[in-house]
This record gives sequence, C-alpha cells and structure tokens, in this order.
Amino acid sequence: MFQMGTLGLGSNLFLSPLAGYTNLPFRLVIREVGGVDLCTTDLVNARSLIERNPKALKLIETNDADRPVAVQLFGAVPEEMRDAALYLESLGVSAIDINMGCPVRKVVKTGGGSAMMTELPKTQALVRGMVEALKIPVTAKMRLGWDDDNITAPDLARALADAGCTTIFIHGRTRAQGFEGTVKLDGIRRVVKAVPSLPVVGNGDVTSVEAASHMFEATGCAGVSIGRGAFYNPWIFKHTRHYIETGELLPEPSFEERIRVLRRHYDLMIEVFGEDRGSVMFRKVAPWYAKRFGPAKPFNKAIVQISTRDEFENALGDYLDWRTQFTDASGNLRPQYELEPLMASFMKDQESSVESRKSIPVPKGPVEVW
Ligand SMILES: Cc1cc2nc3c(=O)[nH]c(=O)nc-3n(C[C@H](O)[C@H](O)[C@H](O)COP(=O)(O)O)c2cc1C
Repeated sequence: MFQMGTLGLGSNLFLSPLAGYTNLPFRLVIREVGGVDLCTTDLVNARSLIERNPKALKLIETNDADRPVAVQLFGAVPEEMRDAALYLESLGVSAIDINMGCPVRKVVKTGGGSAMMTELPKTQALVRGMVEALKIPVTAKMRLGWDDDNITAPDLARALADAGCTTIFIHGRTRAQGFEGTVKLDGIRRVVKAVPSLPVVGNGDVTSVEAASHMFEATGCAGVSIGRGAFYNPWIFKHTRHYIETGELLPEPSFEERIRVLRRHYDLMIEVFGEDRGSVMFRKVAPWYAKRFGPAKPFNKAIVQISTRDEFENALGDYLDWRTQFTDASGNLRPQYELEPLMASFMKDQESSVESRKSIPVPKGPVEVW
C-alpha cells in the first residue's frame, strides 16, 4: 500500500502531528475506527529526550496497539538528533520524522522547525548522519518554504532524498503564511515532481473524503496526511480508504456510534493521563464530537466543567435525556432538527473545512511574534 523505506504500511493515509492533541488516546481511537496505519506523535525536543525529561517521555508514550508509530523530533544539533533517534529506535519506534516546518519562535530560534528549510547543506548533513546511524526509516515534514519568495521545498526534498530520507511530508503553506490562506496544491505537486524516487505525502486542509481525493488527484502525491480534519471527523481515514478502494461514499456514522467513540476516547484519556488530568484534557476534545450531535448546547456547557468520571457520566446522561425531545421513536433526530439532506451535502465541504479549522486554535497574529 505504501512503502516507507523498509517499512511497508497498510494505508497511504497518515495522522499529522498536532502538538497537544495527537496523544496516545487519540491515536488509539482513530486506529480503532480504522483507515490509518502510521501515526505520528507530537513534536518532541531531541535534547529533552536524551535527558529523559519526564514531560518528553510522556509525549512519546505508546503501547503495542499504537503501531506502527513514528516519533517526530525537532532540534538542530546533529549529534542530539542522532542520539535521540537511536534511543527511540531501541524502544521499538517504527520511524523517525524530523520537524522542518514548525513556524513557532520557540522552535525556530533553536535552528529547528522551519529554520531548517533555509539551510539546505546543514539540514542535509544532519539527516545523513541520522540515516547512517539508524535502521528504521527517517522522514521529513516541511512547508513549501520560508515565504513566497523562498519556495525551497523542491530543492530541500531533493537534498534529503540524496541523504537517504525515505518520505517527504509536505504542508502546502509557507512559514510566512502560518495557518492563514489556503493550501497551495500546485506547490505540493512541484515537490512530488522534484523527487520521483520518493513517496511524497500531501498535507493541509483535508477535512472531507472529497478533499482527500482531490489532494491525490491535483498533486499526484502518494499519500495524504490529515491533522485538524481528524479531530473534526475521526472517521475520515476509514471513509477515505473505502472511497479510494470502492468509489463509494460511506454514510455518516450514527449518533450511537459517535457516542460509543466519544466514551472510548474518554476511557483512554483516563487510562493514559489519570482521572483528574484526563477529565480536564477531555474538556477540549468532547465539543468536536458534539458538532455533529444536532442540538447540543447543554452538553457543551456541562462537559467543559468535568473533573471526574462521575461528572462525565452525569453530563452525558443528562444530555442523552434532554436530547430525546428532538428525536422520534427510533431515536433519530426529527427532520426539522437536521439539515436538509441536499443542503447538508452542499454545505459539507465548506462547513467542515471552516469548522475543523476553527475548533483547533492556531497561533494568532503575525508569524514573526509567535
Ligand atoms: C495546534 C496545532 C499543532 C501542531 N503541531 C505540529 C507538530 O507538533 N508538528 C508538526 O510537524 N506540525 C504540527 N502542526 C501542523 C500540522 O501537522 C499540519 O501540518 C497542519 O495543521 C495542516 O494540516 P491540517 O489542515 O490537516 O491540520 C500543528 C498544527 C496545529 C493546528
């Protein structure tokens, strides 16, 4: 399905790293829903890993069900990046992804993240050192370039291919763009063309099956990576794979299925982070699920105050009772509370793209001050 160096993968769809979101519980949830194979952790500082900093170790927490998994490293010191990667390899991690796209100042000022796109020979040497030391594949995630006048991704991709990098993940925005504007598919296409020997994975603004399919067609990419769209719709990987394989669009999951997955997600949060922290962290997760529940105001109000499992159960129980006023005898939303089917399909792309981008906060203001 997708060959990442020596690592054969069962899907060409990938979970993009989102710091603070793509933790073990979420990765396990989307694996269980299906359609995805390799998932990547949030970005981790290479030096913190070498120092065995407890926060960094929590970021790479994984288990046997969370396979294959890549850890995304950031850093600009070749020896640190190599040694952190060797440590991860010894833990059984499947691949190492290098962050070359993060625009945030904290990362860029270390010479890591998107700063790496501006120093081709240095970046190439760093990657070469890692590839020579490791048995597992090394991949890179970058943006199109620093700004519109410096679209370096095709040259950088070529340099990295030469250094033994196995896959390029490309977010179709520049560093200067931050998260504004739209993804430039022609920019991704140029990277695909630049490295015919390597699989290139397109990324950015994919929030529906149709958008994923368009990314493949418009860019010629070998895979698609999805970040914010996976939170808005954890079924996106399963539905996209089904569409690629059969040409058929699966129906939206039922309300019961959405509640089942929400509960599972909560349980995993508690398992991994404990009842206190897991409950508090779940406050920012639950409202994504609720976006597709139909009327859900009281739920959103109650769920952002939970601190314990009992409070979670009460918030959900109260909501399920309250919601019955909008449903018929078989539990389906009565038509006046649903969008008209035609209107729904018309709105789907626009709404999901805007909604999913709104639901995960991105840094605000000019990128220079992030
Ligand atoms: C809150 C947030 C955190 C992110 N954290 C990371 C990260 O740790 N590493 C990384 O390479 N990209 C990170 N990104 C960028 C995403 O991986 C992705 O490239 C970008 O959001 C575009 O894809 P999407 O529209 O599918 O979300 C982050 C984006 C957001 C919104």
